[in-house]
Amino acid sequence: MCGIVAAVADRDIVPLLIEGLTRLEYRGYDSAGIAVRDESAKRALTRMCSTGRVADLAVQAQDCTAKAGIAHTRWATHGAPSERNTHPLMSSGVALVHNGIIENYIPIRQMLIAQGYVFVSETDTEVIAHLVHFELKCAADLLTAVRRACAQLVGAYGIAVIREGDDCVVVARRGSPLLLGLGEHGNYAASDASALLSVTRNIVYLEEGDVAEIKRQSVRIFSVGAGDTGRATDRECPEEGTPLVIGVDRPVHVSTLSAEAVELGDYQHYMQKEIFEQPEALAATLEMIGGAQSLMPNLFGANAPEVFTGINSVLILACGTSYHSGLVARYWIEQIAGIRCTVEIASEYRYRASVPDPNQLVIAISQSGETADTLASVKYAKSLGMQRTLAICNVPESAIVRECALRFLTRAGPEVGVASTKAFTTQLAALFLLAVTLAKASGRLSVADEAQYLTDLRHLPLAVQKVLTLEPQIASWALHFANKHHALFLGRGMHYPIALEGALKLKEISYIHAEGYPAGELKHGPLALVDADMPVITIAPNDALLEKLKSNLMEVAARGGELYVFADADSAVTEGDAVHVLRLAEHYGLLSPVLHVVALQLLSYHVALVKGTDVDKPRNLAKSVTVE
Ligand code: G6P
Repeated sequence: MCGIVAAVADRDIVPLLIEGLTRLEYRGYDSAGIAVRDESAKRALTRMCSTGRVADLAVQAQDCTAKAGIAHTRWATHGAPSERNTHPLMSSGVALVHNGIIENYIPIRQMLIAQGYVFVSETDTEVIAHLVHFELKCAADLLTAVRRACAQLVGAYGIAVIREGDDCVVVARRGSPLLLGLGEHGNYAASDASALLSVTRNIVYLEEGDVAEIKRQSVRIFSVGAGDTGRATDRECPEEGTPLVIGVDRPVHVSTLSAEAVELGDYQHYMQKEIFEQPEALAATLEMIGGAQSLMPNLFGANAPEVFTGINSVLILACGTSYHSGLVARYWIEQIAGIRCTVEIASEYRYRASVPDPNQLVIAISQSGETADTLASVKYAKSLGMQRTLAICNVPESAIVRECALRFLTRAGPEVGVASTKAFTTQLAALFLLAVTLAKASGRLSVADEAQYLTDLRHLPLAVQKVLTLEPQIASWALHFANKHHALFLGRGMHYPIALEGALKLKEISYIHAEGYPAGELKHGPLALVDADMPVITIAPNDALLEKLKSNLMEVAARGGELYVFADADSAVTEGDAVHVLRLAEHYGLLSPVLHVVALQLLSYHVALVKGTDVDKPRNLAKSVTVE
């Protein structure tokens, strides 16, 4: 949710902290701050913050030079995005930034108040800053104090801590992402490798319960273990942890992320760039099937043949847009593979008394691989005895990928816009491949069908490219939405989840209230809302349900509703006074949802442009939700 950058180097690191925060700003943008050991102030700690954007912070920091510092962009959980709640939080010479939520902050706060500490913020984070300071009274160094403080925390954290006069930064993680960057001129930490691209590509991913001390010329990592809660019962005897060897216990990965991949280039917004990158992202994702006429299960991991053998059903767990890709996949998995499939919102599943089935394949879908609810839901499924797990994810070393037995990595490239686009369509491509692979594993697939599905998949990038050419017409439709407050999205069958996704996109970035409905349900409630002020957006592919859908459209038209219909070239839908029709170039059979969603992404994007909203950083949201 929040972005963290930390650095200790032999040169000025303030520009790096600001650049890193700029790259991570999409993860949280309620406020931003840095604390650095200021070279011009006898290495005292200087804290600067902005309740605006990182660009404002950059202006404040332009005259500051420092060789060590920590930085943060915040997505507020405890306390409004005010200056006093902005990270870093301070405790007499200690500064700390935090990503996550501390669940036991109230008793710790009470203990610290009893010890004379004064709290100035409403955050849960401030307890960690004071706790580290408290532990420093009897600890040999900052590393020890941080380890002791962490041992008392319950909840999720990725933290970076700096102390006046020290030559190090100490970082720790449990439940929130954090990695180290090993550089030529210094060593670094960040919540995402993209923040460190200008100084290093040598990345060490910290594991649950790791604490690391970063100095200019050295890095030490200690593991205090994953644990369940992080709670140590005896503060006098905290877990000191096991020293780890970098390159052995924690491998060094060389990041292949390109700088252009995270830059805007000629586009106006990341969302626009990412919509237009979809043909390329799909082609890259499908590259792993090469020219094969036949799919092998090990596309999903070396153990896939064993894991897939004997599965009797599929359970998909995900949140947000990823949940919608799961809903589309349900149609494919049941129709193509003949395997029962349920799809659950991860935050609901993790607290529900469900009936576990060890022969069920559990699939976690996540762009970031860090979504707290999705991760917790997989752990919960495993705790119930369901070990056949598969991650479909866009981030290779993410927590969800590491948690699952099997993995399929989509190759969408970094997605920066908060509203997910290319991650969604590449997830769909991966899920279609899975449906075909499962069909093959269960002996249901003819050679001819398999070859046809693969041909259709390979044609997908081109088919998406054609949809993108509709942008000018979609942009002209968007003008009609400028003064609307509500919108209804209708679809049937596997396009119903696309209606949900279209509605989600519109509400996320244009703040128009939108709902997605299966068109057949219209008369059971939403029809009451239909009038000339509520546009009804309909997905009308030329499939077996088209005639049924047309009856639903008549019901809307008869009540004075204004229809915006995304049809196929050959869908028999006629344009009329209040019926606007836009035609996609071709009907694409089972893969049609992938094309129709692209049209809806463009619609939301252009409505947001018309409304003048902050497209890439919509209010109150964040890209990667690492808290519950
Ligand atoms: C946030 C993002 C959504 C995303 C959802 C799930 O809400 O704003 O775009 O779909 O998290 O994220 P994941 O990374 O698990 O796909």
